[in-house]
Amino acid sequence: MSHPVPRRGETPIVVAIDGTSASGKSTNARLVAAALGFVYVDTGAMYRTLAWYCLRRGVDLDDRKAVIGCCRKWKTSLECVDRQVRLLVDRYHPAREIRTAETSAATPKVAAIPQVRAWMKTKQRECLQFGNLVMEGRDIGSNVFPETDYKFYLDASLQERTRRRTAEGVQEDLAARDRRDSLRAAAPLMIPLGARVINNSNLTPEETSGRIIAEIRARLPARPGADTAAP
Ligand code: DC
Repeated sequence: MSHPVPRRGETPIVVAIDGTSASGKSTNARLVAAALGFVYVDTGAMYRTLAWYCLRRGVDLDDRKAVIGCCRKWKTSLECVDRQVRLLVDRYHPAREIRTAETSAATPKVAAIPQVRAWMKTKQRECLQFGNLVMEGRDIGSNVFPETDYKFYLDASLQERTRRRTAEGVQEDLAARDRRDSLRAAAPLMIPLGARVINNSNLTPEETSGRIIAEIRARLPARPGADTAAP
């Protein structure tokens, strides 16, 4: 069964996937979106885009006023390509630039600023224009779409998450990163109320996403004319 496009008058469905760093949010969110025919939204990429933009303009990331100024003035647009949402700046999609070590290190600074988070929340909610969504991040179920019935929180042991990052060639102090995400005043990382928590230390992505997909399918409203409604 897939629910690719909401019908006229239907509110799009939002699947919120939050969790710690290297808990498999991106991999699983992509698998879930593909299985259900939903649009995938990587909100971390949006924060990374602002960090990259500030770096490129020589803005001091410790100067909150300057970062907020950038966020108010930059010319952005959203587009959906191959069922994935992109945040463009001056019509440019900085796909590679936002994944550099420099941008990764700068992103938590912009993500801690309440006014930046408010801007991001508005943009992330605008993604509803593209239809049913699987949105991954740190505050999606708790802050961006608190009203959704489909909330998941992924976690894995620190040892396993460190192993995954190392396998990707990235050396990172994940415990410090989680602490920073969880302790910030604005929309900290937390288990959203009503979220299904999945510890996937010993699960493959297929098993993790399979559990999420099964749970969503069991709870999706039946649609007249959809294949589940067929005799
Ligand atoms: O998931 P990621 O590594 O691409 O996230 C990049 C940074 O953005 C990381 O420091 C966490 C932060 N982030 C956030 O604060 N809220 C989100 N919804 C998504 C990411």
